[in-house]
Amino acid sequence: MKKINVGLIGFGTIGTGVVKLLKKNRNEIMRKTGINVQLKKIADLDVTSDRGIHLEKGILTRNVNQIIKDPEIDLVVELIGGVTKARELIIKALYNGKHVVTANKALLSLHSRELFKIADKNNRMIGFEASVCGGIPIIKVIRESLVANKIKKIMGIVNGTTNFILSQMEEKDLDFNKALQLAQKKGFAEANPDLDISGEDAAHKLQILASYAFSTDIPLKKIYFEGIEKIDIQDIRYIQELGYKIKLLAIVKMDKHNRIECRVHPTIIPKDYLLASVKDEYNAVFIEGDASGGQIFYGKGAGSLPTASAVVGDIIDIAKSCEESRGASYSEIFDLHSKIVIKKFADFSCRYYLRFHTKDQPGVLAQIGKILGNHRISLTSVIQKETGQKVVPIVMLTHLAKEDDIQRAIRSIRKLKIVKNPVKIIRIENSD
Ligand code: HSE
Repeated sequence: MKKINVGLIGFGTIGTGVVKLLKKNRNEIMRKTGINVQLKKIADLDVTSDRGIHLEKGILTRNVNQIIKDPEIDLVVELIGGVTKARELIIKALYNGKHVVTANKALLSLHSRELFKIADKNNRMIGFEASVCGGIPIIKVIRESLVANKIKKIMGIVNGTTNFILSQMEEKDLDFNKALQLAQKKGFAEANPDLDISGEDAAHKLQILASYAFSTDIPLKKIYFEGIEKIDIQDIRYIQELGYKIKLLAIVKMDKHNRIECRVHPTIIPKDYLLASVKDEYNAVFIEGDASGGQIFYGKGAGSLPTASAVVGDIIDIAKSCEESRGASYSEIFDLHSKIVIKKFADFSCRYYLRFHTKDQPGVLAQIGKILGNHRISLTSVIQKETGQKVVPIVMLTHLAKEDDIQRAIRSIRKLKIVKNPVKIIRIENSD
C-alpha cells in the first residue's frame, strides 16, 4: 500500500477537522484509494487545549521545523491562515521537497504566482481546493470536469458569513449586528469578521477562481469589492416586493472581446434563480462553459469537517499523482501568453437599483429623471409610496447601464437640494 507522510501546521478549527476525518474514515480512505495517509506531526502554538481527539505521544509540537525539516514528511498541510508567516513556511516546505496543501485564500490571492513557480522549480505540487468554498470541490470541477470548456462566466455565493447575515435579515427581520453575532457564534466568520462583511474574503476567493478559470494572474487590486454593511432592512423589503433577493455575489465574466470583469458586491437577483434559494451559511457557484452551458455547485463553504473534506481530498490527489506530477502546476494556472484584458470598474455594466430620499414636492422625479437621461440611463420601474412624511424614499430600477454613467449621474443627483442622504446603489444581475 502506498504511504504518504503528512505534517500538519495549524491545529485550529480546520486542522482539528482534518485529524478527525483522517481518523474516522481511515479504513474507508485506504480501501477506496489504496493510500495510507500517515499523520506524522502536528505543529501549533497551543499544545494544551483539548480538541476532543486522542493523539499518540510525540505527535504534537510547537516547533514547525520538526515538520519542515523532517526528511520523512512528504506533504505539509498549512492551516495557520494569515499571509506573512504562512508564505514563509510554504516556501521553506517546497524548497525542502514537500508537497503543500493549503486552505489559505488570502495568501494565494496575493502570492500564487510566486508559490506555484517555486513548486514547479522543485517539482512539487500545491493543493488548494479548500481555499475556495470549503467542501465544494469547485477547483477540481474547473481543473478536470470542465477542462474542455472555455469558461464564460462564474457567479457565486462564496462567503457563508454574509449569506447567513443576509438570509437572517431577510427571513427573521434581524438587524445586521444581531445576525453577525449569530454567524460568529456558529464559527464560520473569519477571525476578523471585517474580511467577510467588507467583501474582501469573497474577493480573495474570486481572485483564485477567476485566475484559475481564465489561466491568468488577476491582481487582487483589480477586483472591485463592496460589502454588505450598508444594506438595510428597508432595501431588503423593497427588493422582496419587487420579486428579487439580495446576495453577496462574486462575479467574473468574459465579453466577446476577451475582456473580463471581476467584482464582488451585494447583488439583486430574481427570486426564482437557483442562487436566490441558497440560504444561510451555504455557498453555491454557477459556472458557464462554452460547451457545458450553465451548472450550479452547492454545499457547505466553511466549517471544520466540510473544509477538512477538501484538504484530505487534495492530500489523496497529490499522493495518487506524485509519479505523474499531475497536480496543478504553474503553467496550468498561468498562461504566459494570455491576451485577456481586465476591465476597469468604470467600464462595467449591469442593471441598477437606486434609492433616493427626497423632498415630496413637484418636479422631483423630473429633475432626477432628467439627470439619469442625460447620462444614458433608462428606467424600468419607479416606486414612491404615500407616507405622509416630508422626505420620502424613491426606488428606481434601471435598464443596463455603464458604471461610469451611474457614478456620474449619482454625483449630480446628490448635489440637488431636494435629495437627502443616503443614496443607495445596488447592482442587479438577471441572467444566471
Ligand atoms: N469566513 C468564510 C466564510 C469562511 O464565511 O465563508 C470560509 O472561507
